[in-house]
Amino acid sequence: MNPQMKPLMDAVLANYAPFAKLSAGLVNQWDQFVIHATGYDLIPPVWLRYRIQGTPDIETYVKAGRGSRQSIELALESQGRRLTDMSDILDFGCGCGRTLRWFRDIAGSVRLHGTDIDSEAIAWNRTAYDFASFNSNGMEPPLDYPDNSFDLIYALSVFTHLTEEAQVKWLEELNRVLKPDGLALLTFLGYRPEKVRRPKNQPVPRIFGRRVLGLVSMDMWDFLDQSDIAELEDKGFAFVPYDIGPLGKAYGITYHRRDYVESRLTQIMPLRAYLPDGFCNYLDIGLFGKAVPKPPTAKKTPGKSAPDKKAAKSEPSAGPAYGDAPKDEPPAEAADPTAPSS
Ligand SMILES: C[S@@+](CC[C@H](N)C(=O)[O-])C[C@H]1O[C@@H](n2cnc3c(N)ncnc32)[C@H](O)[C@@H]1O
Repeated sequence: MNPQMKPLMDAVLANYAPFAKLSAGLVNQWDQFVIHATGYDLIPPVWLRYRIQGTPDIETYVKAGRGSRQSIELALESQGRRLTDMSDILDFGCGCGRTLRWFRDIAGSVRLHGTDIDSEAIAWNRTAYDFASFNSNGMEPPLDYPDNSFDLIYALSVFTHLTEEAQVKWLEELNRVLKPDGLALLTFLGYRPEKVRRPKNQPVPRIFGRRVLGLVSMDMWDFLDQSDIAELEDKGFAFVPYDIGPLGKAYGITYHRRDYVESRLTQIMPLRAYLPDGFCNYLDIGLFGKAVPKPPTAKKTPGKSAPDKKAAKSEPSAGPAYGDAPKDEPPAEAADPTAPSS
């Protein structure tokens, strides 16, 4: 590309949202026809649907949400738990309520909550769903909920978009708001070599130097260059920025290898189960419990049989002080949520 054109192209790509909205107005007319013909209710505007699924298709929006609820229930069953046993459930990264809309039937006995960085989606949710409460959150923690608030937190296709640094911060935050006996259900693009679609000698096509999901391909496994695969093989984690839109390089697609989840993320929260392809037969599910700070161990003072409370108080903590939630066996190794990435 002519270097003089680049600033112009950058400006267009960074501000594509208003252009998309203009054409979305026309699509909205078509929506009204489809909604009328199918009888679907609670259908968000086209740009909100597009933002969470990369396609405006109403059928996809409806079916994907129904499939999400089924996958959540199956994963909970594997742990002997049921949605109706819970009193507070949080949909972290709820977008425009694609999954929460399928929870209306349990809203009488369970309090439902949704939070997202997309304040426009949250504003729409508030007008559409009278059976759940919503918050917008910032790009960085904290969430606007007290400690130990939720029996279940699910984050569907959210950790598949975070940088390594962001995923650590958000996992620590989810740990804070999870109840001691709660479960956090996260989905991952779990890397296995056979999942990669793109032949080795074909790099991902670029449009003005950028990989654009949707224009190139809708399949996340068609979005990896050889350098990304090398990173996944080596480190077990790769973040591929979209490099487009208002969030620029801060947003993209994140791939995890199972053993990375098992070794790195369990330094923050203990893993209860890992279900390959457990989410809609496409994403892997990690089910995490809560890690709670371990009480500092009192240092024994020679010559005294009972612990000296005063001495123990003034001793600095011996090191990382996170462990599994009460009632459970403590993990083999103490976990340190601030440990550097592997
Ligand atoms: C692919 S969409 C999935 C939406 C929804 N979970 C679903 O399955 O329909 C990813 C969502 O995560 C949200 N998101 C990304 N980072 C987030 C963060 N740090 N906190 C809250 N939401 C976030 C995005 O705004 C978007 O709504």
